[in-house]
Amino acid sequence: MSKQYNVAVVGATGIVGTEFLKIAAERRFPLKGLKLLATERSAGKRIPFGEGEITVEATTPGSFKGADFVFISASSAASKEYAPIARDAGAIAIDDSSVWRQDPDVPLVVPEVNADDVAGHKGILAIPNCSTTPLVMCLAPLHRLNRVTRVIADTYQSVSGTGTAAVLELEEQTHDWERKRESVPHTYPHHIAFNLLPQIDTFMDSGYTKEEWKMTAETRKIMHEPELPLSATCVRVPVFIGHSLAVHVEFERPFRAGDVRDVLRQAPGVVVQDEPSLSLYPMPRDAAGKDPVFAGRIREDVSSPNGIAMWISSDNIRKGAALNAIQIAEEMVARGLV
Ligand SMILES: NC(=O)c1ccc[n+]([C@@H]2O[C@H](COP(=O)([O-])OP(=O)(O)OC[C@H]3O[C@@H](n4cnc5c(N)ncnc54)[C@H](OP(=O)(O)O)[C@@H]3O)[C@@H](O)[C@H]2O)c1
Repeated sequence: MSKQYNVAVVGATGIVGTEFLKIAAERRFPLKGLKLLATERSAGKRIPFGEGEITVEATTPGSFKGADFVFISASSAASKEYAPIARDAGAIAIDDSSVWRQDPDVPLVVPEVNADDVAGHKGILAIPNCSTTPLVMCLAPLHRLNRVTRVIADTYQSVSGTGTAAVLELEEQTHDWERKRESVPHTYPHHIAFNLLPQIDTFMDSGYTKEEWKMTAETRKIMHEPELPLSATCVRVPVFIGHSLAVHVEFERPFRAGDVRDVLRQAPGVVVQDEPSLSLYPMPRDAAGKDPVFAGRIREDVSSPNGIAMWISSDNIRKGAALNAIQIAEEMVARGLV
């Protein structure tokens, strides 16, 4: 019988944790045991899994005894506290927050792009930001053939990227708007319903937001290109699930749009949806609930001789978080690293 693993999920009641459980069941992750962890608030909740139900426990430093993998999809504070404790208890911690991503001892992995990086792990591995993942999945295969020299990425990020509270807030604001009722924003600095917020995370001295900085820093780390010029503008949009990006890429040499389409058709985890005559292109509504990253609107950039413009959509909860984390674990299992 193939090996099975004891898994603990910190944040099992959250939006990513819930999707994680679905994906683990779908992909038949080889589970020996499954411990569901959250805050004291959720302790005692029963969550259906497989044929039965599992009772959620409050996370404590003792929660990871005997675990092979600890998936952490909670808060930055929880990731900072619990990832080292899980590692020291002998588990492999796979973390969804941003706190470990730039640590030189922590591989930041999108298995379709830099799976080999898992080999250098020291007990903690991280997934990238949910907009960085689809971007690198499209950039990396093109970069291998024709060096990327500059990237401009503008994102259209759904509220589920912020977590459960933001999803509820968009629902409430939409109902309030229908009923012509005033509402007060809580999760974001402004209303998100029927609005666009050109701010994700806090502002830095440079004028960029932390989310925009993360896209640059994480893309560089995953692609092993520490100087790659990338400028992002990250925008929160009133969409429930699915992040999209308008991307302008410059290459060392000209790249024909047809060749880019061909390369992306072969790229693992990427599906090209590009038939303008049929209005066929990626959309968050279609990408929601699906595993691939969808790329379309691929065209030669009229403003740059070596430039390509494209549009990308993907499910931020699946490939942007839970699926990527499980794929990292699968990669480690396949390489005998556990
Ligand atoms: N949403 C995305 O698209 C996405 C993408 C990539 C990465 N991430 C990252 O994934 C993580 C989870 O995000 P989410 O969207 O799932 O948020 P969420 O819906 O707000 O869920 C948060 C979960 O974390 C638990 N939690 C919070 N603080 C905790 C603590 N101190 N100890 C133990 N559990 C704690 C919550 O438990 P209670 O239910 O008991 O409060 C809940 O289960 C975040 O780090 C986020 O940055 C999210």
